[in-house]
Amino acid sequence: MCGIVGYIGSRGAYPILINGLKRLEYRGYDSAGVALQNGGVRIYRKTGKVARLEEFCKDKDTNGTIGIGHTRWATHGEPSDANAHPHISKYGDVVLVHNGIIENYTALALILNQCGYALDPREKTDTEILANWIEHIWHEQKKESTCTFEDAVRDSLRTVVGAYAIVVITPHDHQMIVANHGSTGLVLGIGRDEIFVGSDATPFIDYTKDVITIEDGQMAVLLEKGEYHIKNSEQKEIEPAIEKVLLTLEEIEKGAFPHFMLKEIFEQPKTIADSMRGRISLANSKVLLGGMKIHEERIARARKIVFVACGTSYYASLIGEYLIETLARIDVQVEYASEFRYRNPILGEDDVVIGISQSGETADTNEAVKLAHTKGALVLGICNVVGAMMSKINDGGTYTHAGKEIGVASTKAFTAQLTVLSLFALWMGRTRGMIDENKYQILLRELESIPASVEKVLAQDALIRDIAKKYYQSTNAIYLGRGINFPVALEGPLKLKEISYIHAEGYPAAEMKHGPIALIDENMPVIFIATEGEYLDKVKSNMNTVKSRGGKIIAIVTEGDTEISSLANVVVPVPKVSEIFSPFLTVVPLQLLAYHIAAFRGTDIDKPRNLSKSVSVE
Ligand code: F6R
Repeated sequence: MCGIVGYIGSRGAYPILINGLKRLEYRGYDSAGVALQNGGVRIYRKTGKVARLEEFCKDKDTNGTIGIGHTRWATHGEPSDANAHPHISKYGDVVLVHNGIIENYTALALILNQCGYALDPREKTDTEILANWIEHIWHEQKKESTCTFEDAVRDSLRTVVGAYAIVVITPHDHQMIVANHGSTGLVLGIGRDEIFVGSDATPFIDYTKDVITIEDGQMAVLLEKGEYHIKNSEQKEIEPAIEKVLLTLEEIEKGAFPHFMLKEIFEQPKTIADSMRGRISLANSKVLLGGMKIHEERIARARKIVFVACGTSYYASLIGEYLIETLARIDVQVEYASEFRYRNPILGEDDVVIGISQSGETADTNEAVKLAHTKGALVLGICNVVGAMMSKINDGGTYTHAGKEIGVASTKAFTAQLTVLSLFALWMGRTRGMIDENKYQILLRELESIPASVEKVLAQDALIRDIAKKYYQSTNAIYLGRGINFPVALEGPLKLKEISYIHAEGYPAAEMKHGPIALIDENMPVIFIATEGEYLDKVKSNMNTVKSRGGKIIAIVTEGDTEISSLANVVVPVPKVSEIFSPFLTVVPLQLLAYHIAAFRGTDIDKPRNLSKSVSVE
């Protein structure tokens, strides 16, 4: 996923573009670039982060009131200055930025080459070929008739296959064209005499809160003085809805925190409460999940529930499996979305498939959801970003309401997913008569108290920082947990790997003796999740095994524990809660541990290498 910005108005475009790109950097940071129109088009591009581009532009001419910019997550072509956007066509008539994939770019390059363009598709990116394709169509059409820039963009896109959002300018006209085909990341910010463009509203919320979403199939021509014309896929001009964006500057700024990740970890008491807000009726203490309620009857009689997700959302789904199987006694299957799609899964109309995604834009998850639809299953979505693709392709679902997550490593979105999954499991358990009213009420009250318990875990930050200081030079780590905390033992190492680049693996605690035990020596930190619960005695015996081989034990324990404290090198106590809700508390120390280890190692925590906040390519 890449980030795109644009500005057309009367102010200097450059500072708006650069600040906008910085806010979109979470989407990709392999390279960045801007193009400014001012009696011709000047393009500046640099490998690396936006700050590098800004430094490069310091002594350059950055005048111009029309401009476009891009921050890239490389998919086609290595991260390099040459592959950075914006791209300009061979004869300099078309300049564009692009987010997405042009699937038939090789075929387009072949046609272009027959017409005198020397574009080797093995060396050129899909975007570069698209810029030339638009120019070629424009030149061809001009031979026969008067053809405008708008006509050229529209007609050239008819032959383009893929999912993309583009912003295009030309040195010949004071206008900008934006188009969306199969992407959800394209919005306009409507100012008084100016228009902003962004992959989302973050680049321009300090200028305007009035937003128009450019929907799939739409194309818009933006003119100076704030004029715009939007056409749908049938080329009919439409009157778009202008929405007020709710995002605040505070939400997209770090405030007193050194990194977004730390800010988002500390936001969790609030975001868990936000995920619950309005979903537990005050009148009769019942779970209310509006977007699912309409399918209540079909969900209640489901033969099985299948979760499809990737990464952290996949681990949240594994916890959902425990919750639903425990509380609602229904068969649950959890699938990596990317694998599920290629297995010809056995599904029918008695099954419920639930896609889980923070961004709602993960291509593998969305494609899995679409596949489930074709097989007749009821398809639900749990996603965080309001209006994301996932919310448009399912039969119903619910938002997690964690607010904007900017740190690339997901934290508050995970606990918000756990909140919705807990509510869903309780609701299903009660609807199916698997838990009695008394237990239902007790668990609901306990769920409501989770934010306060998470607050107590956060108070252990200094202790966790000390642990990180001791272990940050380790080159490997093992995480072990059982039952509902086994998925937490998978999420912990994912966080560590992503931001500290330390190799780490998670296993079910008992599985350790079937191989990973060979790795244990006096240099191996082993992180145990050893809170009170059904399997604690078994976990203790796994811990003894590690201790006897010299492993260094860091244990997450229940407050008041004395036994594990005598086995482990160091313990982090968390409040006592019912086992089914323990992941809310056990994951927080692991998020903080990964954070502090990465901070000691001096990595770029919010923008770890090679990653992107959402992976909209398969
Ligand atoms: C981990 C992380 C990724 C995402 C994964 C799925 O910290 O951020 O593993 O969880 O790419 O993304 P979503 O949830 O947006 O579908």
